[in-house]
Amino acid sequence: MSVSASTEALRRRVAELPGTNHNVEVAPGVWTVPDQPPVLEDPRVRCIVRAVREALGGSLAGARVADLGCLEGGIALAFALEGADVLGIEGRATNVAKCRLLEECFSLPNLAFEQGDARDFRPEKYGQFDAVVAAGLLYHLDEPVEFTREAARCARRVMVVDTHFTPDTEEGVAALDTMPFFDLSWNPLMEAGEVSAAGEKFQGRWWREYAEGLAEEDVERQLWASLNNPRSFWLTRASIYRLLTTCGFQAVGERLDFLAPSMDLGAHMRTKSRSVFVGVRTDGETSERMLRPEASLKASVRRFRALARTSGLRRAAKDLTKT
Ligand SMILES: C[S@@+](CC[C@H](N)C(=O)[O-])C[C@H]1O[C@@H](n2cnc3c(N)ncnc32)[C@H](O)[C@@H]1O
Repeated sequence: MSVSASTEALRRRVAELPGTNHNVEVAPGVWTVPDQPPVLEDPRVRCIVRAVREALGGSLAGARVADLGCLEGGIALAFALEGADVLGIEGRATNVAKCRLLEECFSLPNLAFEQGDARDFRPEKYGQFDAVVAAGLLYHLDEPVEFTREAARCARRVMVVDTHFTPDTEEGVAALDTMPFFDLSWNPLMEAGEVSAAGEKFQGRWWREYAEGLAEEDVERQLWASLNNPRSFWLTRASIYRLLTTCGFQAVGERLDFLAPSMDLGAHMRTKSRSVFVGVRTDGETSERMLRPEASLKASVRRFRALARTSGLRRAAKDLTKT
């Protein structure tokens, strides 16, 4: 088979822009990170896309999706190929250049990238999205609560947070096997602590992104790291649930369908610190109501009493309100 001059030129460009993880076939036989599995078939990526598709009722066509901290653009591309209108936001120029290559090679009118700080992602600047995806980002931030709250305000329907979290106990941390992502033996999680945001406390541990005082150009070269915070705060699993709930997502849970069916789930839960958290707005209830659960409880009791009056269950209603 003869290879066209343009394919050869593309192959050279790809070689000049070596990727780290999102392996995409940009022309027949030209892969961006040939030593990695294809990103579009990555079970984690498929799981994220599936979570959003299902939350949006079975189709991504026309859905507005934001992919924050999008690295080399592979997850954004996966959404765009299913018809979503996607904006990928990435902080590092080196990574954005690789996203631009995808933009160019796929020429999809529904795929766009921009260089930006995910911590500026708020509705006043970017508007509303049907889905907001933050994959591999939360644990690189030193203010994960503030970031999530702002990003969630942009999410009309669903927010997916694929992230590391920290176990609550020292025993839990000691049992962790975070390879291949992190070798915590050389860069350990620190002692348990908490962060406060708007008067509410969230539990977790600090983790070192890079040495304090590292030169800016060296930070830029750490292609997966935070942009400028030398430490990041890993929330506990319970804090992530509470955070998403208080952001007004009524259904909050985890997707574990990125695991192979043969995976030992018990071992996974004991030794892995990564999960795909999903928050869905199920019925358009306001976050205000979710923040004041006692208001919902009173409303439920009132509804039950009204029903009881009309259906002869007066006594049951009386008993219920006594408890
Ligand atoms: C571990 S990689 C995750 C990449 C990708 N989302 C994935 O899940 O495969 C983290 C990415 O977030 C980017 N990043 C870190 N902090 C950021 C910030 N504040 N704003 C935008 N991008 C950021 C990094 O440059 C890097 O590309």
